[in-house]
Amino acid sequence: MKACVLALLVPHVVGSDTCAAKGSGAFCSDDGGLQKADLITQEVDELRTLIARCHDRIGLLEDLQDLLSTGHNGPLPDRYARVLQEELPLISEVTSRPERLTSGSADDFLISKRIVVQDVPASFVGFLPLRNPRTSSPSSTAQTALPSVLLVSVHKDGMVSLFTPSGDILHTFYAGHDASVTHLAVSPSHDEYLVATSDTTGVIRVHTVNVRQKRLSKEEKEQASNEQMSTYLGPQVNVTAQFTKSMQVPLGSDGEVPRVTALSMVSLQGTKFFVAGDAEGKVSIFTKNGTLRAKIDATVTPGEIEDLHGHLNNLLFRAGAEWGFINVEKLDVYHLDCPGFEAIVTAAVTDSQQSSRIVIADEEGTVWSLNVKDRKHCKVEHTFPKGMTRAPLELASIRGFTLGLELDEGNSTMSLIALNMSVVGRQDGIPIVWRATRPLARDWTVHKRQQLGDLIAFLSADGKEIEILELIMQVHTPALAVDSMGNFQLPVIAFAIVLVLGYQYMEKGKGDKGGSKIAPTKHDWDSADFAALRNKRKEAGAFASGSKLGKDVKT
Ligand SMILES: *[C@@H]1O[C@H](CO)[C@@H](O)[C@H](O)[C@H]1NC(C)=O
Ligand SMILES: *[C@@H]1O[C@H](CO)[C@@H](O)[C@H](O)[C@H]1NC(C)=O
Ligand SMILES: *[C@@H]1O[C@H](CO)[C@@H](O)[C@H](O)[C@H]1NC(C)=O
Ligand SMILES: *[C@@H]1O[C@H](CO)[C@@H](O)[C@H](O)[C@H]1NC(C)=O
Repeated sequence: MKACVLALLVPHVVGSDTCAAKGSGAFCSDDGGLQKADLITQEVDELRTLIARCHDRIGLLEDLQDLLSTGHNGPLPDRYARVLQEELPLISEVTSRPERLTSGSADDFLISKRIVVQDVPASFVGFLPLRNPRTSSPSSTAQTALPSVLLVSVHKDGMVSLFTPSGDILHTFYAGHDASVTHLAVSPSHDEYLVATSDTTGVIRVHTVNVRQKRLSKEEKEQASNEQMSTYLGPQVNVTAQFTKSMQVPLGSDGEVPRVTALSMVSLQGTKFFVAGDAEGKVSIFTKNGTLRAKIDATVTPGEIEDLHGHLNNLLFRAGAEWGFINVEKLDVYHLDCPGFEAIVTAAVTDSQQSSRIVIADEEGTVWSLNVKDRKHCKVEHTFPKGMTRAPLELASIRGFTLGLELDEGNSTMSLIALNMSVVGRQDGIPIVWRATRPLARDWTVHKRQQLGDLIAFLSADGKEIEILELIMQVHTPALAVDSMGNFQLPVIAFAIVLVLGYQYMEKGKGDKGGSKIAPTKHDWDSADFAALRNKRKEAGAFASGSKLGKDVKT
């Protein structure tokens, strides 16, 4: 049956097949050329041939079924015979996962730009945002050669590598740790480029990255011009790093250095703070000059700080069942308690467009959108369908969308998904825009950009490859400006069409006064179409009338 359907879809294949097989099919003349026949006769002959072939196939399949039912596989290997006899699940059982449905394909949005291969496995990756070169010096066009972001990778031994967004290495330095590096944090704001790393002994080291236009020496310039080489080949950036300060996480209750479990950098009205969470649920806050400002207890029940996530003026923390905000200036801790939300938070990000919105994933992998006012008043805004995403799920926020990275249990792959935040608060709409299966990643990072596509970097499970991808997504904006423009344009276009048609009608009426028809009717067009199929010359005629129409429109 399937073969019949398939054959119906490809009648040309069947036709030529028949020609080759039988030598004298319905429209195969002896010399192999095509006989003339009208369209319907051809179609009927074609279907007759198909029916005959399907009967043949049914006969063969029945023979095969008889053979298999006797227990003899003939020449078939056992597993083929088993596959042929196994009961198939209903299609509805296989595909009925509406909650996992996507509205698009990742290939339309996600472009792999480069895979950087390193000999030494890295442990973490991060994007260090830079000032927009155009705004910093509008007069100099050469400045535009500076990248808008650097990709940072950190190795366990403290080696830090800096790359352009296209994956060209710019600089490598050692952060100078005596123990294994456990965390990486980069400055969130553009006013200063800082890379902070922490190690197993609670030492945090901060380096300032300098990014300048590369100035070639006179000799280099001469050499370049002598060799007919463009001085603009290769990265035109001079990146250096300078050790700035070192901090030590204070001793824990047992007199030992607590294990650092989270590291972040927060920028509060231009003042920067380094924040380290530890295994005892304490948060150490250091000022920019490296002095310890306070060590506060963020948790009520003992448990490690699992995540510190700075966004604008907020520092979001997560520790087991507890989560909330820390005001690093006033040293206050606000525990968040959302009525209607009881689950344990496993990932939390602030929405990049709406700072009062927090997107969280719970231990079942369900995604929630919460609205938080004054860091305290929390309301469930939206719950994405249960089972749509699976735990463990990590989140990142870009303009209009939330990216999720989920582990596919069993077959050691991951899925990157894009959730459409425009569906928040609505009952309709498909929440998942796309889903891309990816190899396992050790770390990942996302950088959102203003006009360009967003950047995503994945560090492979073995740490040796960094894949840089660009993500281009159009945000759905129900903005008034767009709507009013559309409302304005539509009547104008409609009016123009009416005008043109009306004019055309008048012209036709004038020209064909003596003829039988005033304007071309639907019937005429249909018969012209049929004629076109049969006769090429008439087709050309129909085309000419088409172009005449075009001319009418223009005049
Ligand atoms: C890069 O900048 C440093 C100073 O920060 C300077 O010493 C060095 O010569 C520069 N290198 C190039 C190639 O411009
Ligand atoms: C660091 O900054 C704080 C205020 O932010 C100040 O009280 C302290 O004296 C400074 N320490 C050093 C060593 O500059
Ligand atoms: C891994 O499993 C997921 C679902 O669990 C499936 O969609 C995906 O195709 C699988 N990948 C491979 C390579 O088998
Ligand atoms: C996001 O959702 C909105 C509202 O349902 C829809 O109009 C828009 O097309 C969606 N965006 C994508 C990229 O699917």
